[in-house]
Amino acid sequence: MSHFLKVVAFSLLVIAFFTGFSFFGVPQIEPAPPPKEEAVERGAMTIEQFVALGKKIFDGKGACTLCHNPVGGRAPALERAGIAAVERMKDARYRGAAKSVEEYLYESLVKPSAYVVAGFGKAGTNDTESPMPDASAGSIRLSEAELRAVVAYLQDLSGVEVTVRIPTDAGATAKAQDKPAQRAPAKNAEELIAQFACTACHKIGAQAGGPIGPDLSRIGASRDAAYLRRAILEPNADVPKGFAPGVMPATYGEQLYARELEVLVAYLAALK
Ligand code: HEC
Ligand code: HEC
Repeated sequence: MSHFLKVVAFSLLVIAFFTGFSFFGVPQIEPAPPPKEEAVERGAMTIEQFVALGKKIFDGKGACTLCHNPVGGRAPALERAGIAAVERMKDARYRGAAKSVEEYLYESLVKPSAYVVAGFGKAGTNDTESPMPDASAGSIRLSEAELRAVVAYLQDLSGVEVTVRIPTDAGATAKAQDKPAQRAPAKNAEELIAQFACTACHKIGAQAGGPIGPDLSRIGASRDAAYLRRAILEPNADVPKGFAPGVMPATYGEQLYARELEVLVAYLAALK
């Protein structure tokens, strides 16, 4: 028995010694500074800066304002998108896989048809197909970091929590946005018409043109600006009698800068 007690006493002594040692004997280790690289690449950008980057992409490279603008009425306002997302995901018409507001917004950009806001679907599809282009493809082609910045901006815009993690290459993405746009904006409507070869199919005023599309020389007399805008962005929405659908390129919405579209529409509307 006394042998057993000795063992217990010895064990307690050993434990006490190491406990004391760990308190007083082991030198305190300073918390290591974060690795340099990460501090430079990710830590350099605050969430506010990342949101601002998203806005820049929204207004610029993303070409989002071509449709999402207060005057066009062609696309839903996005000021409540982050709040509406919760209802959309529960809607019977929802065909996506998002589980959070962030995922819903991201999905809206790359798979626009996962949920089509009522009344905004492609003409004739009963709101099953979105006219919005995939922002990760085509001429918009946003990178992963750019898409995430736009989602952060949309969350901030709707006043919901910004949950997007800032990707490590956000700094490089921000620099890329400061480069001049790939194409200089056209100076006027005539230049646009030449650049986009509208006269390949249309006669437009003094400019001779092909008969594939309707003669636009006096188009402003019968069509208003809203109709013309739609005719350029969504050529198959209204097809005039005697002309074939699917002939006019449906890509102008992705190619034209928002202001160019308005210049072109105003020019056509004035042809009377
Ligand atoms: C050619 C026109 C067009 C362009 C360009 C466009 N959108 Fe859209 N967008 C729409 C239309 C129309 C809808 C509504 C139909 C739908 O739900 O897909 C929509 C829907 C959305 C929605 C879902 C809204 C909701 O309440 O569910 C988001 C988010 C969105 N767009 C963001 C963007 C962003 C960001 C860009 C730029 C990268 C962009 N859109 C570019 C036309 C466009
Ligand atoms: C490859 C041929 C082609 C090109 C290029 C083309 N269009 Fe068209 N366009 C058509 C056809 C065909 C129609 C009629 C069918 C339709 O509406 O899709 C049409 C319809 C239109 C209409 C509607 C006319 C109406 O009365 O409904 C407008 C406006 C228009 N085009 C403007 C333009 C502009 C601006 C450009 C250049 C940026 C352009 N088009 C380039 C073939 C073309």
